[in-house]
Amino acid sequence: MVTSGSPSIPALDLANQAAIDAVFHLYDPPLWLVTARAGKDRGGCIATSVTRASIVPDLPRILIAIAQQHYTWQLIESSDEFVLHLLAADDLAAVARFGLLSGHTHNKLAGLKLGKTPRGAPRYEQAVAWLGCRVETRQTIGDRSVYLAAITDGGVLRQAPLLTVSRLVQDAQPEQIAEIKRLYVRDQHIDRAAILLWRRDRAR
Ligand SMILES: Cc1cc2nc3c(=O)[nH]c(=O)nc-3n(C[C@H](O)[C@H](O)[C@H](O)COP(=O)(O)O)c2cc1C
Repeated sequence: MVTSGSPSIPALDLANQAAIDAVFHLYDPPLWLVTARAGKDRGGCIATSVTRASIVPDLPRILIAIAQQHYTWQLIESSDEFVLHLLAADDLAAVARFGLLSGHTHNKLAGLKLGKTPRGAPRYEQAVAWLGCRVETRQTIGDRSVYLAAITDGGVLRQAPLLTVSRLVQDAQPEQIAEIKRLYVRDQHIDRAAILLWRRDRAR
């Protein structure tokens, strides 16, 4: 049975789900690489849930949503810092490394030529651009934590077209697409259970 987990939120039938999904296919978000460091531990993951959250030039801020099962989430929780990178369109290797493996089982930064931000966080030098971010506040939303962060520094490293979701789908090898789909479905199950639990707890 379909449930929203909350009496005030309607459960969605399949037609409504498809209509909503079609809206998300109308735009093409960039892929961001999020790196973080906590003590000696370092890691990173790919994220599309990234939004500019301030238009004030001297008070730049950003919102990101990171799933709590990710190793990168642990690093951000421990350090309250992360680095965002915009990737080059041809950098599918970064997706394979950071989006398909987990830092729980792999040292994702091993063997990479990395720089450092002025605050000592790992910077991915093949990126097109980067932003150093410091968490100001967070909200747990069941499956993910939403972080509002102050942007402390950043820069454009080179001029190149950006990697976006449609570019990834167009250029990735069929095996890579199949693995992305498999992980997407796995994460949907984990996230669904966590959202329903969160809603039920709030309704009590
Ligand atoms: C195109 C794409 C977009 C993604 N967007 C997000 C996102 O916005 N938030 C998130 O928590 N995970 C996102 N992921 C999933 C993580 O990047 C992935 O699960 C990663 O392996 C987690 O690594 P970690 O456990 O080392 O942190 C995305 C993955 C891909 C391929």
